[in-house]
Amino acid sequence: MAIPAAVYRETHLLPSILSADFARLGEEIGAVMDAGVRIIHVDVMDGHFVPNLTIGPVVVEGIAPLVHERGGWLSVHLMIEDPEKYLEAFARAGADTLSVHVEACPHLYHAIQAIKSLGVGAGVALNPGTDVARVREIASLVDLILVMTVNPGFGGQRMITAALDKVPVLRRMLPETAAIELDGGVNRENIRQVLEAGANWIVAGSAVFGAPDPGAEAQALQDLMRAAEAPGGHA
Ligand code: DX5
Ligand code: ZN
Repeated sequence: MAIPAAVYRETHLLPSILSADFARLGEEIGAVMDAGVRIIHVDVMDGHFVPNLTIGPVVVEGIAPLVHERGGWLSVHLMIEDPEKYLEAFARAGADTLSVHVEACPHLYHAIQAIKSLGVGAGVALNPGTDVARVREIASLVDLILVMTVNPGFGGQRMITAALDKVPVLRRMLPETAAIELDGGVNRENIRQVLEAGANWIVAGSAVFGAPDPGAEAQALQDLMRAAEAPGGHA
């Protein structure tokens, strides 16, 4: 399902289901969507690009109807080698954006074209140690750039705040229509800093699903986001 262009410019909280209770996945997604969340972040790991194994297309297929029926979307983060092999499977399963890692894509331009040809949003992700120059040539083509602020592989890590410095540089490089999705270590304490850097799709995994009440925590984080954006929100 195509995400309306305007949504890429809006500010959104994207709970990452990596930290959800998988025995109650539908319920947990329902709880955060009841709290106003519109985009769910899905972390796909292959045990090669990152040292962990997680979700495949069957899980995306399982949750997509639930998310789409509620007017939401799925932003799928592919932390896998050779991602082009799996783009079609994830798009068919119901992904609404697909992000490939620049470090995993020798033919980045081709990968972006392949994502676009599937009718879903095209994203490129950057590890904390990767220079923004790596995406300069494709900046005008993407719907989003995903900035990692932890080393990919696991939820619940501390944010590498130095990686935030890339966000304003990317803002200048990207068309106004593109989102900057920021991923890793976001919590109540640093969410304002992340927004002030210029990111607008904010991923939070353990902060949301590690909380006793994920719906209430999603609400609290979104309230902080609105407060940070309100006129005078810097006070
Ligand atoms: C890490 C994943 C993140 C992760 C975020 O490899 O890409 O999306 O789930 O989790 P937190 O918010 O706990 O850092
Ligand atoms: Zn992620």
